[in-house]
Amino acid sequence: MKLVRVVLLLLCFCLSSFEGKYGKHWKNQVTKKHELPSAPAAPQEDLVDAKCLLNKYTHRSCSKVFCQPWEKCVDGTCICKLPYQCPKNGTSVCSTNGRSFPTYCHLKSFECLRPEAKFLNNGTCTAEGEFSVSLSDESTDSKGIVTVKLVDQDKKMFICKSNWGMAEANVACFDLGFQQGALDTRGRFHYSEDLQINSTECLQVRCQGFETTLAECTFSKRRVPGYQGLAGVLCYTPAADLPATESFACVNGKRIPLNRACNGVNDCGDQSDELCCKGCQDGSFLCKSGVCLPNQHRCNGELDCISGEDEVGCEGSRRGRTPSSALSRHSQDRLSRTGAEYPEVQEETEILTADMDTERKRIKSLLPKISCGVKRPVHTRRKRIVGGKPAQAGDFPWQVAIKDGDKINCGGIYIGGCWVLTAAHCVRPSRAHHYQIWTSLLDWIKLNSNIVVEKVERIIIHEGYNGTTYQNDIALIEIKKRPSHKECVFSNSIPACVPWSPYLFQPKDSCIISGWGREKDNQKVYSLRWGEVNLISNCSQFYQNRYYEKEMECAGTADGSIDACKGDSGGPLVCLDTSNVTYVWGIVSWGENCGKPEFPGVYTKVANYFDWISYHVGRPLISQHNV
Ligand SMILES: *[C@@H]1O[C@H](CO)[C@@H](O)[C@H](O)[C@H]1NC(C)=O
Ligand SMILES: *[C@@H]1O[C@H](CO)[C@@H](O)[C@H](O)[C@H]1NC(C)=O
Ligand SMILES: *[C@@H]1O[C@H](CO)[C@@H](O)[C@H](O)[C@H]1NC(C)=O
Ligand SMILES: *[C@@H]1O[C@H](CO)[C@@H](O)[C@H](O)[C@H]1NC(C)=O
Ligand SMILES: *[C@@H]1O[C@H](CO)[C@@H](O)[C@H](O)[C@H]1NC(C)=O
Ligand SMILES: *[C@@H]1O[C@H](CO)[C@@H](O)[C@H](O)[C@H]1NC(C)=O
Repeated sequence: MKLVRVVLLLLCFCLSSFEGKYGKHWKNQVTKKHELPSAPAAPQEDLVDAKCLLNKYTHRSCSKVFCQPWEKCVDGTCICKLPYQCPKNGTSVCSTNGRSFPTYCHLKSFECLRPEAKFLNNGTCTAEGEFSVSLSDESTDSKGIVTVKLVDQDKKMFICKSNWGMAEANVACFDLGFQQGALDTRGRFHYSEDLQINSTECLQVRCQGFETTLAECTFSKRRVPGYQGLAGVLCYTPAADLPATESFACVNGKRIPLNRACNGVNDCGDQSDELCCKGCQDGSFLCKSGVCLPNQHRCNGELDCISGEDEVGCEGSRRGRTPSSALSRHSQDRLSRTGAEYPEVQEETEILTADMDTERKRIKSLLPKISCGVKRPVHTRRKRIVGGKPAQAGDFPWQVAIKDGDKINCGGIYIGGCWVLTAAHCVRPSRAHHYQIWTSLLDWIKLNSNIVVEKVERIIIHEGYNGTTYQNDIALIEIKKRPSHKECVFSNSIPACVPWSPYLFQPKDSCIISGWGREKDNQKVYSLRWGEVNLISNCSQFYQNRYYEKEMECAGTADGSIDACKGDSGGPLVCLDTSNVTYVWGIVSWGENCGKPEFPGVYTKVANYFDWISYHVGRPLISQHNV
């Protein structure tokens, strides 16, 4: 334990003490300590979720993060959209192959498919426009002080050290052809004498970290009296590898110091160091889905956590990362503060390139949206009831009842269009014409007036459904359209959202079940009832060899007082996200002895079937994000 700590400290010391403006080449001072005994858990290791790491998540894993607007999510991975699938609104941009594209999104999706063309500038292509990045050190191509020539400037310029971080350094290295990005922004950098340092002028650059060229980042020119330091970078080469015991292995093959995992900074360059975290260090923000975000992403007006908690409770604290209004052209930005501790600094900042990050957000806002999981506002205030209580009109607008002949044998969930989700064990395709789908039903003894009854067109059972093990206990019911209607009319129903990621909700989250199932004592129930249950993490302890973690979900209460029971089958287990949007998280599937804590209810884990559902009902019908 001690030994490892010492080595880590040495490493940090070497990196930071060599930070300097001038001098000889940086030498790798860290000798590899192969003789070390295998490392005991360092504090950082407690932050990392080892089981999650096996999934090799990156910035393209849409079960953890949102895709870029020029990508869509298929089978858990962000893949390239075709350019024509981009929103049309926007201004033209120019690419490095001299071609103009109608919008930034068109160019990025083209680049995504054919990486040889990159972004050059916003606006039309100019005849002699060229962008280049170079490193000052002539003896090696992987490190040095960074110089940049912007498209409309005729000379190379240095980059200011202020604001220069791993996000920017990674992009600079991507741009220079180092696919794993940067190793460090610190080091002792050499530069050739013929490059004059203008100590009062440098470029300030701001990147997100996923750009493929620095040209996509936003540049502004800073003039400050006095030397302020120039940015340098050490690009990652496999030769710079850190010993395995002291480092974190990124999915892209790069190794980073262990203490840089789960700190909100995308050191890996593919974000893999921030996606499997149990906690976050250095003040970074932990999403419920186990992702660490830079603290600046909190309340910046853009959803970053898949379940949205980075934008909750932001009233009065909206802030962005350097709002562009604060950097207006030729603005005289006096950073004077009251009190004597800061000398008055006169600083001038001039924006030189377009803010493509704002453009990216704008494009995102133009993507198609679906409406699901949000109830119509109810005007009467109601007491919050917990525990198997009768539902009232409008409480569960996605709940349907499936009637087979004159019996209600199962529940179902409306998910939009003509589609209802239920359990495979509830329905048989051959009996499709016997079923009726009742919506808005509250009590099947005292029928309410707004009930709508639909006929069934067809039933699709999951091909992997196993009636013995209850694996893949999921089915889709397609409602018959009324004669002369193009769409299905579910007048009083509202679809529940279909979860696209298994990380949207977590064990211990409180969710709601509803149905017409029997009571514990097998007594019949005629009215729709509901109750709150908690998701349970590992149900193998209750149902050994019968519980399949990936496909099933368990939920219950400590005392077993709320549970799904016979007759609830096929009905919904819904969970609400941080903005109170309702998702169908589970379908009531099986369980033993209703209402006993040692036998919690088992549900089909709907998130696992997002692609199966979208294959049948069409992706646009259920995709809220990543379309
Ligand atoms: C997109 O552009 C069209 C016409 O070019 C315009 O009518 C429409 O309002 C724009 N939409 C948005 C969301 O800006
Ligand atoms: C440095 O930049 C300033 C501001 O653009 C300019 O006035 C000055 O002449 C430059 N100095 C050198 C040595 O190029
Ligand atoms: C890109 O340039 C156009 C004019 O050519 C301008 O209207 C637009 O605002 C610019 N976009 C960004 C993101 O600065
Ligand atoms: C269902 O699962 C059981 C146990 O794994 C297996 O023996 C049986 O063959 C499966 N049935 C089908 C139809 O796949
Ligand atoms: C779940 O419980 C089973 C049985 O108790 C155990 O073998 C398994 O390691 C547990 N899995 C997790 C992820 O906790
Ligand atoms: C969600 O609903 C709960 C309970 O009704 C309420 O307290 C909370 O403020 C709501 N949250 C949002 C973001 O609307």
